[in-house]
Amino acid sequence: MNMTNKTDKTEKIQESPGKRNGEVNIVAFLCNWCSYAGADAAGTARLRQPENIRIIRVPCSGRVNPLFIIKAFNLGADGVLVSGCHPNDCHYGEGNLYARRRFEFLKKFLPFMGIDSNRFSYQWISASEGQKWQNVVINFVKRIENREGK
Ligand code: FES
Repeated sequence: MNMTNKTDKTEKIQESPGKRNGEVNIVAFLCNWCSYAGADAAGTARLRQPENIRIIRVPCSGRVNPLFIIKAFNLGADGVLVSGCHPNDCHYGEGNLYARRRFEFLKKFLPFMGIDSNRFSYQWISASEGQKWQNVVINFVKRIENREGK
């Protein structure tokens, strides 16, 4: 086994959250049952979306530990978006309600770590809301780009 290849691979993983051609880098955690399907519906309907979003599919928004979000920022994400099912539509009952509680706390906590809480957002998007997904990501990317321009 060639050690050089292993090192190159590690560097690529560490570089991947970095900026590409000056674009902002967004990490989006999407619940499998609603928001991921909504993003998929937007793609199927050929709704234009920013390309600088890395989507991570999770079983439920309640699965998103706030440490995942902090880690994404630490690895170079300019913005982090979490999206799940609408309240009372969670596939697992109350996962999104627990998530909402954690995310509201996280928003208050981020400035203490030197992270602008406007770089984080969470949304509720159902499988049939491809148009809403498009609007949310376009607006979130604009918000992060405007912030970066300052
Ligand atoms: Fe979608 Fe819980 S299954 S938020």
